[in-house]
Amino acid sequence: MGQGYEGVKVRLIPMEIDRHFENALRWINDPHNTQWIGTLDMPMSRLAELEWFEARCRAGRSEANWAIETLAGQHIGFSNLFNIDFVNRIADSGSMIGDQSFRGKGYGSDAARVRAKFAFECLGLHTIFSSYFEENEGSARMQAAAGYEIWGRKPRAQWKRGAHRTLVHTYLTVERWRELNPV
Ligand SMILES: CC(C)(COP(=O)(O)OP(=O)(O)OC[C@H]1O[C@@H](n2cnc3c(N)ncnc32)[C@H](O)[C@@H]1OP(=O)(O)O)[C@@H](O)C(=O)NCCC(=O)NCCS
Repeated sequence: MGQGYEGVKVRLIPMEIDRHFENALRWINDPHNTQWIGTLDMPMSRLAELEWFEARCRAGRSEANWAIETLAGQHIGFSNLFNIDFVNRIADSGSMIGDQSFRGKGYGSDAARVRAKFAFECLGLHTIFSSYFEENEGSARMQAAAGYEIWGRKPRAQWKRGAHRTLVHTYLTVERWRELNPV
């Protein structure tokens, strides 16, 4: 065991500068990785990324920022809960498997399941939200595998890679999660 929350393929551990920052800097500047994430495609300098990374590490109760590592300890991505609202018991969620050789092999959905268990059992949330560009088949399938359901679509929501793209909005409730993950 050791630190972090474990699934069947991954462990979520706190984001650490010495252990995860270099990968974050490389992955956020890889246009293939950022093709369907909601960032502006601006260059992220070491300084800008460090400021962003440090802010995530210091975020306190409004965010839970994890590095995704394999059970063997290889860093392969990031998994986040943000806009955590303990009054309404909701949060937003996002994922990246930055090491592309680990995509499409179940690591992302395992990480999403571990994050959901953390959100519902440790934080006491009842719903977590997400969204993806409708072209992002990987995210669509990964979220469906983790139990997220679609609640709406926002056409022309964001300019990305040459077009105004539709965002698909999703949510995962604690009830749905319990149904899929009986004790
Ligand atoms: C989205 C992402 C986190 C998914 O992680 P992953 O580890 O590749 O996902 P999984 O392997 O758990 O995928 C679950 C399912 O989706 C399928 N899948 C994954 N990537 C796919 C792709 N690019 N095209 C089609 N299917 C894909 C898997 O084969 C699997 O199918 P199954 O349920 O039938 O077995 C990852 O692809 C990624 O980091 N992409 C870049 C960043 C990004 O888009 N983040 C999300 C922003 S909303």
